[in-house]
Amino acid sequence: MGVDSKPWAWNKTDYNYDCWETPDDEFLSVFLRWKNKGYSRALDLGCGTGRHSIFLAQNGFTVDAFDLSLDGLQSFEEKIQDKNFNITIKAGDMLDLPYGRDAFDCVLAFHAIHHTDMVGLKKTIKNIYDVLKPEGEVFLTLTSKEGDSWKKHANNRIDNNTLIKTEGPEVDVPHTYLSYEEARELLTDFQLIKIQQIIRYFPNQNKKHSHFFVLLRK
Ligand SMILES: C[S@@+](CC[C@H](N)C(=O)[O-])C[C@H]1O[C@@H](n2cnc3c(N)ncnc32)[C@H](O)[C@@H]1O
Repeated sequence: MGVDSKPWAWNKTDYNYDCWETPDDEFLSVFLRWKNKGYSRALDLGCGTGRHSIFLAQNGFTVDAFDLSLDGLQSFEEKIQDKNFNITIKAGDMLDLPYGRDAFDCVLAFHAIHHTDMVGLKKTIKNIYDVLKPEGEVFLTLTSKEGDSWKKHANNRIDNNTLIKTEGPEVDVPHTYLSYEEARELLTDFQLIKIQQIIRYFPNQNKKHSHFFVLLRK
């Protein structure tokens, strides 16, 4: 029995919408790689309001988009309602994916699967493994303990890796943070193609975020 899942409340006005509207720079090279490999079926796990799903669909992919946040998915649906994209949107929890084994050429899980505890993260990684085809690839991010958040919210820690935010738009949302060694250990079932730790500075908010950006093959 792990921590309860809790979606982002995308309808809260204090999210910075702009940064969630265009594909992340780090994803673009992965997208080119997947296009060159001839991949066509993609899962966008924790898709939010759909920036990566839409980009993939605009570039010929058939996309399944999945998220727990009903208001995020509503906003996503409004964006694509007049478009003829190959996107199927489903609401649900990443701990229990509604897809068959070996269903996808590639899975993207961008700034999403850390929203649980270690039990949930391990289950989610196993779920990703199961829905991915043999030789398929995953691009995912994990949150590093070296960013400011793990230290800043120390009082909200519930174990050695997880804290639950008690204020702001992510109130009650669980977050799991890892060391490099813990990240490697978590991913041992996959072949590791590339792992980078990227620190992003937000000078206006006087903080830095640190994530592992990981490319894996089944
Ligand atoms: C930081 S947002 C990232 C959204 C999107 N991947 C992007 O890059 O624009 C994290 C997303 O993970 C979703 N999420 C959190 N817990 C989840 C769960 N248990 N199952 C599915 N999605 C979840 C949230 O609702 C939110 O939309």
